[in-house]
Amino acid sequence: MAAQQAYAPYSHFRVGAAVLGKDGIYTGANVENASLGLSLCAERSALAAAVVNGDRSIRGIAVACIDAHETSCTPCGACRQWIQELAPKAEILIGQREQVLTAGDLLPRPFSLKPTG
Ligand code: THU
Repeated sequence: MAAQQAYAPYSHFRVGAAVLGKDGIYTGANVENASLGLSLCAERSALAAAVVNGDRSIRGIAVACIDAHETSCTPCGACRQWIQELAPKAEILIGQREQVLTAGDLLPRPFSLKPTG
């Protein structure tokens, strides 16, 4: 499980993410830094793994937290913006919840360089 690879010595809040693309599954975990604002979330780490493997057809994203209460396991705002851009059609599963979410559910009206109607 990806969350077990988290580097989270500051928050002790380990998160894992798995991204399903057309060619496979890419995992990520949160990677923190002493300069706390530089910490990387699990979702962005997994999305970056998909992109650097040349797979941009992302169909699904699953997120899991080891240490957190179920209700606090949810993508942060920055990750939602990444999901909107890199995985706009993905089915998103969070924690143990059965509900399948979309990028639009997580972040309506995302920032875009393109004009919106
Ligand atoms: N974190 C994630 O990995 N994903 C999220 O969507 C929310 C927060 C991480 C960042 C940091 O390492 C720790 O959880 C506590 O904020």
